Amino acid sequence: MNIIRVKDYDEMSQKACEMIISVVRSTEKPVLGLATGSTPEGLYKCLIEQYQSNKVSFDNVTTFNLDEYVGLEGNDPNSYRYFMDSNFFDHINIQKNNTHVPNGIAKDLEEEVLQYEELIKENGAIDMQVLGIGLNGHIGFNEPGTAFSSRTHVVELDESTRNANARFFSSIDEVPTQAITAGIETIMESKKIVLLVSGEAKAETVARLLNGEITENFPASILHKHPDVTIIADEAALSQI
Ligand code: PGA
Repeated sequence: MNIIRVKDYDEMSQKACEMIISVVRSTEKPVLGLATGSTPEGLYKCLIEQYQSNKVSFDNVTTFNLDEYVGLEGNDPNSYRYFMDSNFFDHINIQKNNTHVPNGIAKDLEEEVLQYEELIKENGAIDMQVLGIGLNGHIGFNEPGTAFSSRTHVVELDESTRNANARFFSSIDEVPTQAITAGIETIMESKKIVLLVSGEAKAETVARLLNGEITENFPASILHKHPDVTIIADEAALSQI
């Protein structure tokens, strides 16, 4: 794994922004894997600025998001579809029907996860997958214990994940208990992966990622087996290394 050490959140976002732009510019029909959460917000802001100053176009870009809560409509401010539209897609020239987020209100969730996999395959492969990491090592919503061989599936969210995300909801009871997530094997099929991590709260997680064993109890540890992973981490996140 290639580690890029940066000073702070802004520099992390800037570096990730440069990497994404380079993929978009050098690929005929770029396919990006995208993530939600606090971590990539700065990246999306930077990409919007670069678009607004005509440095990059998203006209021929296709995107697949990692995950979505089960039970939330796309226009619910806590859904990941809403997050992506308001933080990124609504501000760039991407064609909306080329943006994909799992449908958390699909009648048949089992059918939805199969279709999502199929759609990724139809588009070739993900050229660059952006990842954040949960305190418990989750990637996407693949919680500890998820099989490394998992494909896109429905998950029960960990209490720790629901607590971490409760800050966006008016109470913990409103945080959905289930989500759809791209599987670990699905993520590992991306050509390149860039993992972003910032802040002292993630320092222990990063230390375990870099120094710990490869185990399904810590999903991100599988990234050691991927041939092209870059971790962009700030000094606070690397403070326990
Ligand atoms: P965060 O979430 O970016 O809000 O810290 C990361 C994650 O849980 O994957």
